Order: sequence, then C-alpha cells, then structure tokens
Amino acid sequence: MDRKNRPIGFFDSGVGGLSVLKEAMKLMPKEHYIYFGDSKNAPYGVREVEDVRNLTYKAVEFLMKKGTKAIVIACNTATSAAVAALRITYPGIPIVGIEPAVKPAVNLKKQGPIIIMATPVTLREKKFNNLMEKYRNQAEIIPMPCPGLMDFIESGKIKGKEVEEYIRHKYEDFNGNKIGAIVLGCTHYPFIKPVIEDILGRDIPIIDGGLGTSIELMRRLEIKGLINDSVMEGNVEIYNSLKEENILKISKKLLYGNDCR
Ligand code: DGL
Repeated sequence: MDRKNRPIGFFDSGVGGLSVLKEAMKLMPKEHYIYFGDSKNAPYGVREVEDVRNLTYKAVEFLMKKGTKAIVIACNTATSAAVAALRITYPGIPIVGIEPAVKPAVNLKKQGPIIIMATPVTLREKKFNNLMEKYRNQAEIIPMPCPGLMDFIESGKIKGKEVEEYIRHKYEDFNGNKIGAIVLGCTHYPFIKPVIEDILGRDIPIIDGGLGTSIELMRRLEIKGLINDSVMEGNVEIYNSLKEENILKISKKLLYGNDCR
C-alpha cells in the first residue's frame, strides 16, 4: 500500500484521546485512523512514570504492527513519560504528542490565574514544569491535579451529580475569585467541558490541546508528503485492551456524539 494511504495511529490510556481524534477527523476527513485505548491499565495518571513509559511503548508497538504512517500520543500523561524516548526508537515516523495548552491560555492575557487541570503524573513531570517555567513571568499558573476525574469519563459518565460534585469541590477555594482561563491538560476532560461551564460560567475560556495537536499532525504529515490524497472519506477502527463490548460502545458514543462543546 502507498505509504500515504496508510492509517494514522492514535493512542490514549483509555477513551480520552477520542477528543483529539474528533478534531483530527474534522481537519483531515480523508485519513484512515486506528485508535487504541488502554482502558485495562488506566488510569495512567496515578502510576509510576516508568510504568507509563512501558505501557506506552506496548501500545505504540501495537499500532506500528497495524502499518500506521504516523502516531499521535493523544494522552498528556503518556506524552510526558514517553514521547522523547519514542522519537529516538522510531526516528522514521512522525510521532506527535499532546501537552497542556498553556501558551494559548497565556496569550489570551486575561485577568486572573490560569488553572491547569491534569493528572498528577503530567503535572509532576519535567515537560510540564519546563512549560510552566517558560510562562512564569507572563501569568500566574496554578496546577490542579485531578486524580479520579478520568474514571467518570471512562465509565461513560460525562454529566450528572458525581461529576458536578467533583468539579464543585475542586473549585471551592476559588469561591468567586476571578479565574483567567482553564486549561484541560488531560484528553478525557473535554468531554466534561459542558459541566465545568455550567458550574463556573461561560465567560471563563476553557482550552484544550485537541485542535492544536491535530494541526501539528497535519503539518508533520505535509512535511513528509504523507497526506492521504484519496477522494473518499477515511474510516476509523477502534481497539481497546479491555476486551469488552461496553467500552467500544462508550468509545463510539464519545467519538460520534455531540459531547465536546
Ligand atoms: N487521558 C490522559 C491524559 O491526557 C490521562 C488519563 C489517565 O490518568 O490515564 O493525561
């Protein structure tokens, strides 16, 4: 098969990366996509970094075996743990990672701190701390670790009392204080953006890295002459390490539903 027509591999610890795939499909509808979620081993965000790296390598090997022409690590946690090493292991293939969208949030120049919601691993790792260091003089950046939040989305709960209570509790301390912007630094969280907006109001910009990552993917494919030039719509295959029908059902609902605002 012509390399251009091969699929693009997407990976996340679970169903979260589908929020990124959704953006890529809008941007490049003619591409074929293979999505792998490692829900059996999720959450990654509370594991040892070494563990996350090993699991990410396994997932990438799975996607490579399917003949993918590029890989998107659609997981902030796995990106911080493994993307640099993966690029050394696989120098011939574009590997795009995702990181909390701090830059676009800072560029908005809003009054009030920028809250970064992400997993404990993402916020602890060097990648994020370098990013925070870079913008320290331009804005007040407050990391907000959210252990347990991804579990709601993994089980298909993207609204309802439990999710609302989690978010309310997290923002208790801000009690009326101005927030400049919120960055969703975990790919699961865009699916609960409507809940966050309903609780905190619609005037706070809530930013995620899905579109930026997809634009970067397109740019990398263009450079390598790997854009699929077919006239037909592409297709999507979804795999999950949890060999259960329900997780595929949840995945499809998230991917094709109208749940990301
Ligand atoms: N979706 C993943 C991310 O973007 C994390 C979820 C997990 O803890 O596994 O960081």
